[in-house]
Amino acid sequence: MKRLIVSLLGIFVALTIRANEGMWLPFLLESNIGEMSEMGLHLTAEDIYSINQSCLKDAVVGFVDLDKPFLHFCSGSVISAQGLVITNHHCGLDVVRQHSSLQNDYIADGFWAMQMSDELSANNVGVCFLRWMEDVTGKILQGVSDTMSVKRRNELINSNISQLEKAVSDSTGLKAHVDAFYCDNEYYMSVYEIFEDVRLVGAPPMSIGNFGGDTDNWVWPRHTGDFTLFRIYADSANHAAPYSENNVPYKADNHLKINAKEKHEGDFALLMGYPGTTNEYLPSFAVEAIQDVYDPIVVDMRGKSIEIIRKNMRANQQVKIKYTSKAASLANAWKKLQGERNGLKNKHVIDKKRALERQMGDWIAVDTLRKAKYGSLLDNYAKEYAVYKKYRRAKMLVDETFYNSEMIDLCSDIRAVLKGSSSDEEKRAKVLAWLRDFYADYDLTTDCDVTENLVDEYFVNADKAHVPSSLQSVKENAPEYVAALLKKSLLADSAKAFTAFRNYTEKTRKKIENDPLFKFTAEIDAVYSNIKTPMQKSLKKTDEFQRRFMQLQRECFADKRFFPDANSTFRVTYGQIRSFHPSDAVVYSAFTTLGGVFEKCDMDVYDYTAPDRLKQLFEAPDFGPYCNADGTMPVGFITTCHTTGGNSGSPIFDADGNLIGLNFDRVWEGTMSDIQFDADICRNIGLDIRYALFIIDKFAGAQRLIDEMEIIGD
Ligand code: ARG
Ligand code: GLU
Repeated sequence: MKRLIVSLLGIFVALTIRANEGMWLPFLLESNIGEMSEMGLHLTAEDIYSINQSCLKDAVVGFVDLDKPFLHFCSGSVISAQGLVITNHHCGLDVVRQHSSLQNDYIADGFWAMQMSDELSANNVGVCFLRWMEDVTGKILQGVSDTMSVKRRNELINSNISQLEKAVSDSTGLKAHVDAFYCDNEYYMSVYEIFEDVRLVGAPPMSIGNFGGDTDNWVWPRHTGDFTLFRIYADSANHAAPYSENNVPYKADNHLKINAKEKHEGDFALLMGYPGTTNEYLPSFAVEAIQDVYDPIVVDMRGKSIEIIRKNMRANQQVKIKYTSKAASLANAWKKLQGERNGLKNKHVIDKKRALERQMGDWIAVDTLRKAKYGSLLDNYAKEYAVYKKYRRAKMLVDETFYNSEMIDLCSDIRAVLKGSSSDEEKRAKVLAWLRDFYADYDLTTDCDVTENLVDEYFVNADKAHVPSSLQSVKENAPEYVAALLKKSLLADSAKAFTAFRNYTEKTRKKIENDPLFKFTAEIDAVYSNIKTPMQKSLKKTDEFQRRFMQLQRECFADKRFFPDANSTFRVTYGQIRSFHPSDAVVYSAFTTLGGVFEKCDMDVYDYTAPDRLKQLFEAPDFGPYCNADGTMPVGFITTCHTTGGNSGSPIFDADGNLIGLNFDRVWEGTMSDIQFDADICRNIGLDIRYALFIIDKFAGAQRLIDEMEIIGD
């Protein structure tokens, strides 16, 4: 009987909790659409992605820095016929910061443009629409043969890519970009339209948009109102154009309807956007390096920096404004990697990978052709990986120490520009722009405190060969020595720095390079390149092994549906709203409500404060039409969709393609999903769209924005 119950339970679990692993390509959904329909989707593949009709992808955007137009740092969606875009608060935070000052502290107080003319330009931030995507593997691999050297292969591929990108961009006026998929085995082209005039429309105060702060980051249950509104502007012909006062709101090919109805456990969820990077097909030894070498370096070194920055932020309001976003980005990876490491260990991922490798070994062993092709692959890969790992560790230590020291990092960038071949005028302009950015949110004391600690850690952890000689001679005084260099440098005094670079000519370069910090940075840069050059050589070899290892996995497990690793291209993922067991005896339900915000506030934790106005609305209660049938106000929910960094702001759709939420995070127990997805514990965290509507309408009183949207209620 017991066994029967167990096996029935097994079937039940298999039927209800689908392993929703996978970030699928929008133009290749045929192999998924059957499963998606079984899970509850009411749409066709063409409703999601089409080049013939308007479809959901036409309302999904990627956020980019205009100088890196193919690296989507966040995702978002269009929610009105006037180009209104919703994304996460943490995605727009930098823009909010740019417009904030002690007098107008939009970070603390929020920002709401009550009329269109109040909307604020989001300098250098652009949004892109994917116009189409296609498999161009044949074109890119033209002329490539299995017998050619890796170097020749890569040269040929790169030249084929540039030619194709140029031809398509030139003929369409759009931006074509070819990316490698399946570990460099296939190539697909994405063609984007990129809009440069994007403006900030509304952002809740930090105490809503980042409620729970770093305490709750990566954590469920979550109560963060992580959303911000932007608007896309276009020229009078509705085309992408640089910022101009004459631009008008953009009419996108599609905008989303918003489903403001109540959600339920098990509801189907569809999610789209631009996931950045995953590594799902690594061999066991690479996972071991992540778990035991790379993740611990970041966790250990950043932990202390974060403590120092937070202490200074608490002591000084000015430092708090300047370092809010910097501290958040340092803490983000720090905390995530702790979760990743625990998940990899608890779910025995290394053992599971080893078991797969044994299966592959057996598959190879029974066939002479397979033996010839793959017989020695894993052994050789492991040997080369050991070489790579040594350099990668050394490089990470330099990155985490010296290039996480703000002034040394800037100094290193300036050195590189000054050594470059551009004209004096270009060099001057570039450095002056960096200086303006740098001093806008810089605090010398904090940087010195952080740097001192990092140098201390470096001394303990780095190989002697990678300790710059000037530090070897001052030995245990190295931390204070480096901090003193920062204080003595011309970069410590913004006026001096601006003067030096405003008057920069090749002749004054010597003088700048004699600055003690520039000299020291030259030593660091030399150490760095001594590590990087052999590392990159080794990386080329390990990449080639990984390419072949990917081929092996696809051949050996031919029945498995493989999705390509995330690479900042458009992806579709799907799953269900699902509670989960994070650990023994603990169950997390799938929804949070506003009551949870005030339970947390009572705990007197630094990150848990909510605006009085929110409390009044809660106590009234005054939730408008946005609450659940039982009168509670929804805030967050979790689903089994497979997501990663870059998916922030991704729209979450219901079975009919209406917007029900915004992705903004994953649960800490499941951040291992970048390496291996585990349906038991991997969940993404979404903001219930009803909470955003409630904040816009009831909290901010920005009715004009609600009026733009198409909301489907009960
Ligand atoms: N963990 C989320 C992401 O990776 C949110 C980060 C921003 N929030 C924060 N409290 N740091 O982007
Ligand atoms: N917050 C992340 C982002 O900025 C999403 C969380 C994740 O890594 O899944 O994209």
